[in-house]
Amino acid sequence: MARFSRQKELIGTLVIYFLVALGAAGPVRGEQKCLICHGKTDHHKIEATGRRVSLYIDTSVIAASVHAGKKCTDCHADIVDIPHKTVAKVNCRRCHYSGNPVGAPQGEMYDQYEHSVHGLEVGRGNRKAPVCQDCHGSHDVLRHDLPQSKFYRQSIPRTCGTCHLDIYATYRESVHGSAVELGNTDSPVCTSCHGEHNIERPDLLDSRVSPIHVTETCSGCHGPMGVVAKYGIKTDRIATFEESFHGVAQLMENMMVANCASCHGYHDIRSQVDPKSSINPANIPGTCGKEGCHPEASARFTSGRIHIDPSSEESGFLYYISRGFLVLTVSVLAGLFIFIILDLFRRAKAARGQK
Ligand code: HEC
Ligand code: HEC
Ligand code: HEC
Ligand code: HEC
Ligand code: HEC
Ligand code: HEC
Ligand code: HEC
Ligand code: HEC
Repeated sequence: MARFSRQKELIGTLVIYFLVALGAAGPVRGEQKCLICHGKTDHHKIEATGRRVSLYIDTSVIAASVHAGKKCTDCHADIVDIPHKTVAKVNCRRCHYSGNPVGAPQGEMYDQYEHSVHGLEVGRGNRKAPVCQDCHGSHDVLRHDLPQSKFYRQSIPRTCGTCHLDIYATYRESVHGSAVELGNTDSPVCTSCHGEHNIERPDLLDSRVSPIHVTETCSGCHGPMGVVAKYGIKTDRIATFEESFHGVAQLMENMMVANCASCHGYHDIRSQVDPKSSINPANIPGTCGKEGCHPEASARFTSGRIHIDPSSEESGFLYYISRGFLVLTVSVLAGLFIFIILDLFRRAKAARGQK
């Protein structure tokens, strides 16, 4: 029985090659010719490991993609002979480059990929680093505003997470990741913090998540005018941080001093009320006492507030001191003003008396 089906398969293949020899001998161009073989649902190859890999191509997938209407060889440009054994990886940059005449979206953002950590790693021969199709898909590239797209906002963490598994797992549980899962479109996904085609290693100074720039990245949302205001989260975090010792030192580019991420973490940021949060009162001594920070940190640190806004009554003692100074300043200025007016009045009177 098995032998019979093997024979049938062989005959099938021979028929196909006969058809090809009739119609497609020599250089091949055009979809029909490819589909003689790849249009058959059971078309497959057996890898050296014995694994069966389907080579059937469902053209309706391509027709529903952004590349509808493109010919097979527009992408598989190296396939000119049949049969073909070694097929090169598709080079999406054939069309996606600045100044392309075929109408592919263009701009600086695509040219940035080559200089990103991923592009550089690919250039260095790292086979695990993504080229265009590893992120975007191959026959199924969709506009990113369609929910089925790999880069629909809510799906971005999963797409990056196919390779960065541990980070995805941590992020999903964070205050940001869990909000995204619930459909919150203001909460950051991987690309909100890292960028898209310009992702860089965090230890490079101009990376958006480097110790120098991470505060700016958080400020986009947590600063004045930031989106977090509508969630009842205070937007004074940046100002209060910049006034603090840590912020001032950071403005002077001292990378050793704490930035938002050193206290809050980055993939595992949690609300203060979450017992696992780095800023939960129970965990603050550990957070401040990190190696290289305040090894002497004790329970005393838990009572110290970090984001201090002297203009808020919540700040206790500091509030009253700052209020005291305000009252003092206003009364001194007012006294000075009254003194000047009286003095002018006196001079005017004296001048009139002289006449
Ligand atoms: C005569 C049948 C036939 C025709 C016609 C044909 N192919 Fe193939 N194709 C194959 C076979 C068989 C393989 C597997 C080769 C191997 O063993 O690695 C293959 C492999 C491929 C691969 C590599 C898949 C992989 O992962 O190894 C691509 C891409 C491909 N074909 C695209 C095309 C395109 C595009 C056309 C039209 C220009 C085309 N083929 C026409 C039979 C055909
Ligand atoms: C928009 C570009 C594009 C077009 C158009 C396109 N392909 Fe592909 N194809 C790819 C990419 C990307 C891959 C993944 C492998 C790689 O990266 O080279 C792929 C993979 C394949 C494979 C390997 C099996 C698989 O599913 O991964 C086959 C066979 C294939 N294509 C055949 C075709 C045929 C036949 C057509 C025309 C009907 C076609 N392709 C049209 C980009 C394209
Ligand atoms: C690390 C993953 C990754 C790699 C690699 C990658 N991209 Fe992207 N690409 C993205 C993300 C994320 C977006 C943004 C989607 C969005 O707008 O939310 C994007 C957007 C795009 C867009 C759509 C822009 C628009 O106007 O809507 C195009 C076109 C594109 N990429 C092409 C490419 C090309 C070509 C390459 C290879 C040179 C590439 N990408 C490599 C992740 C990647
Ligand atoms: C033959 C030229 C050509 C090749 C090769 C090509 N593209 Fe495109 N691509 C286009 C054109 C043209 C558009 C614009 C389609 C439109 O706007 O209707 C486009 C659009 C896109 C978009 C935009 C989606 C969005 O959000 O608007 C992405 C992403 C994309 N291509 C990725 C790829 C990837 C990944 C590859 C390689 C597998 C690739 N392209 C290969 C021509 C090409
Ligand atoms: C196909 C797998 C793959 C995908 C998809 C992918 N990456 Fe990567 N990424 C890598 C590899 C491999 C490296 C280099 C690893 C290394 O050297 O540490 C890397 C490096 C990085 C780095 C620098 C890491 C470091 O230690 O300096 C960042 C940040 C990063 N990726 C973020 C992302 C984001 C965000 C996305 C989604 C838009 C993404 N990656 C999608 C494979 C991938
Ligand atoms: C809220 C901002 C933010 C979000 C969201 C975010 N990251 Fe990060 N990520 C950072 C910061 C900050 C660092 C650098 C920390 C350091 O080493 O100084 C970092 C570091 C990394 C690194 C380097 C390795 C490491 O752990 O230090 C990779 C890879 C990475 N992120 C991938 C991702 C992926 C994938 C996602 C989405 C699942 C993601 N990030 C979401 C801020 C973010
Ligand atoms: C794209 C906008 C955006 C960016 C960038 C961003 N956040 Fe957030 N963040 C939010 C939103 C929205 C929430 C509220 C989520 C919810 O609770 O639904 C939030 C919540 C938080 C919370 C919890 C607040 C609470 O009271 O529960 C902390 C802490 C936090 N973010 C710190 C950071 C830090 C540190 C960074 C930089 C590493 C950062 N965020 C970057 C939008 C952002
Ligand atoms: C030196 C450590 C430290 C630094 C640096 C720091 N924070 Fe905080 N953050 C804390 C602590 C501790 C709390 C909780 C008590 C408080 O409000 O002072 C907190 C509270 C918050 C909250 C409210 C969280 C909640 O659950 O209510 C947000 C949002 C926040 N910080 C954002 C930021 C941002 C954005 C930055 C950078 C501009 C930053 N923090 C820098 C330690 C820090």
